[in-house]
Amino acid sequence: MKLNLKQCAVVAILCMLWFTLVRSADVPCAARAVANNSVLCVCTKDYCDTVTRDEPSEGKYVSYVSSEGGMRFNKSTGSLKCFEETSKYPTLTLDPEIKYQTITGFGGAVTDSAGLNWKNLTDSKLMQHLIDSYCGDSGIQYNMLRVPIGGTDFSTRAYAYNELPENDAALTNFTLAPEDYEYKIPMIKACMAAASAPIQIVSATWSPPAWMKTNNDFRGYSRLKQEYLQTYVDYHYKFIEKYAEEEIPIWGVSISNEPLHGTIGFNTINTLGWSLDYMAEVTRSMSSKFRNSAAYKDIKILALDDQRYTLPLYWTTLISIYPDLVDYFDGVALHWYYNRYVNASTITRVMRDYPDKFVISTEACTGAQPTDVLDVDLGSWSRAEEYFVDIMENLNHNVVGWIDWNLCLNTVGGPKWAGSGVDSPIIINAEAREFYKQPMFYAMGHFSKFVPRGSQRINVSVLGQTNIQHVAFLTPSNTVVVLLYNDGDKTRINIRLGDKEARIKVETKSFTTIEMLNQ
Ligand SMILES: *[C@@H]1O[C@H](CO)[C@@H](O)[C@H](O)[C@H]1NC(C)=O
Ligand SMILES: *[C@@H]1O[C@H](CO)[C@@H](O)[C@H](O)[C@H]1NC(C)=O
Ligand SMILES: *[C@@H]1O[C@H](CO)[C@@H](O)[C@H](O)[C@H]1NC(C)=O
Ligand SMILES: *[C@@H]1O[C@H](CO)[C@@H](O)[C@H](O)[C@H]1NC(C)=O
Ligand SMILES: *[C@@H]1O[C@H](CO)[C@@H](O)[C@H](O)[C@H]1NC(C)=O
Ligand SMILES: *[C@@H]1O[C@H](CO)[C@@H](O)[C@H](O)[C@H]1NC(C)=O
Repeated sequence: MKLNLKQCAVVAILCMLWFTLVRSADVPCAARAVANNSVLCVCTKDYCDTVTRDEPSEGKYVSYVSSEGGMRFNKSTGSLKCFEETSKYPTLTLDPEIKYQTITGFGGAVTDSAGLNWKNLTDSKLMQHLIDSYCGDSGIQYNMLRVPIGGTDFSTRAYAYNELPENDAALTNFTLAPEDYEYKIPMIKACMAAASAPIQIVSATWSPPAWMKTNNDFRGYSRLKQEYLQTYVDYHYKFIEKYAEEEIPIWGVSISNEPLHGTIGFNTINTLGWSLDYMAEVTRSMSSKFRNSAAYKDIKILALDDQRYTLPLYWTTLISIYPDLVDYFDGVALHWYYNRYVNASTITRVMRDYPDKFVISTEACTGAQPTDVLDVDLGSWSRAEEYFVDIMENLNHNVVGWIDWNLCLNTVGGPKWAGSGVDSPIIINAEAREFYKQPMFYAMGHFSKFVPRGSQRINVSVLGQTNIQHVAFLTPSNTVVVLLYNDGDKTRINIRLGDKEARIKVETKSFTTIEMLNQ
């Protein structure tokens, strides 16, 4: 077929139009209204919202907004203006020359329940939408995961590895569980395949086999039996070997999940209690075992893996009694429960004397605390705000990463074998063949997608009065990213970088991420 000039021009214009649409086409949220709450974004096998990160161009900024009113990563670009001293609006001045901690990443936990719910979607396109939403470039680009060593409360049974034969100090029968092969490994691999950055995985044991413990049970008041301290360390080594055989490298491991619970017997789920001397002995032995192995010498060994309020016990006190332990720990892992009662400045105060130790947040979920009425609260904006504020406060206090709890749960916040249900950024409704992205999903994404590994937090100084809370970063691609949290009405704020400023209209009750080139 031969085209005349006019036809040719039409084709060219259509091509350009098509290219433009395809290039920047984000699939918008399929919003479903929830009474008295914000909206859910519904994904089916044929539809799921996406977001791409656009490179800001010279003289422009790109902004992404999510709001209680229903915006979800609403993208727009604006022009930078010359900075005006006399603005009547408050100004945030960014200083990329003053840098703080370097970011490791963001992610969630591949629990047995998360994997089971994901598999329960059954349709492979729908399952892939969930993976792409979390790990893909068209999603929120998680680059960290947490995988429990054996079972947790978010399993359908209590179990550990090598439960039989009992008293098997040499762990002669250590194999992975059906849950690893059915749920966790496939989900981790799917995320690794979808992600463009390496996925770094942290691990922890909730409870080892009952025979290693003084109470011979998965829950309740317990300690390790003294004769199995080394076996407990070997148990971790064998787990890491088994995952390596599946081509899943483990990046970091803690001494145990939430040591305080089993220590005081205050728990209804899989736990292990600790005395400080056992903790010291296991830390030394774990360090020696990993550091002396060729394959796993770089694995990060993490202290605590417990609430912020346990920092004085499991760091300050532990280190003051056993000063040699400082050298064995790479960092400290913190959980978020009860953070509202413990100021984040505790972190910087306690860690000031240990500048070479990083702090990472390894567990968080809403719906778990006594003040939470509902397990799953569909469309809750206030739960998204809890996430956003906690992540921001942690980052403003030198924390290098933030890992969520279950990647997805069912509509009652399960399944689980013990304790009650909790909430998750993605809720699976397998019966309806759909899943829901909660407002919490977008709260996570405003950080995880736009603050890539290797970003460094930078200084922000405030001129004028504003309720807008903020944190800012310099990314490895030399852009500056600013996150804003507005808990009130529509307002205005200027963001100054050098002699330029972005004049931002901030939406009512919203999260905003703004990206611009560093000058
Ligand atoms: C929504 O709020 C109204 C007024 O507070 C209340 O009467 C109603 O029961 C609520 N609906 C739901 C589904 O919670
Ligand atoms: C932006 O947000 C509004 C909700 O306030 C929504 O109706 C609209 O479609 C969104 N625009 C885009 C491009 O996503
Ligand atoms: C080894 O563990 C499996 C469960 O994984 C169990 O069925 C089997 O009996 C155990 N073998 C011995 C010798 O205890
Ligand atoms: C935390 O402490 C700082 C000062 O160290 C204070 O400015 C801030 O208001 C406190 N935050 C809370 C939530 O109490
Ligand atoms: C799996 O999906 C079915 C419906 O397809 C549902 O009845 C069942 O409760 C789901 N399982 C869990 C653990 O949520
Ligand atoms: C940012 O830098 C200013 C000096 O330019 C300093 O006064 C302020 O404390 C710094 N802010 C933070 C959060 O460190």
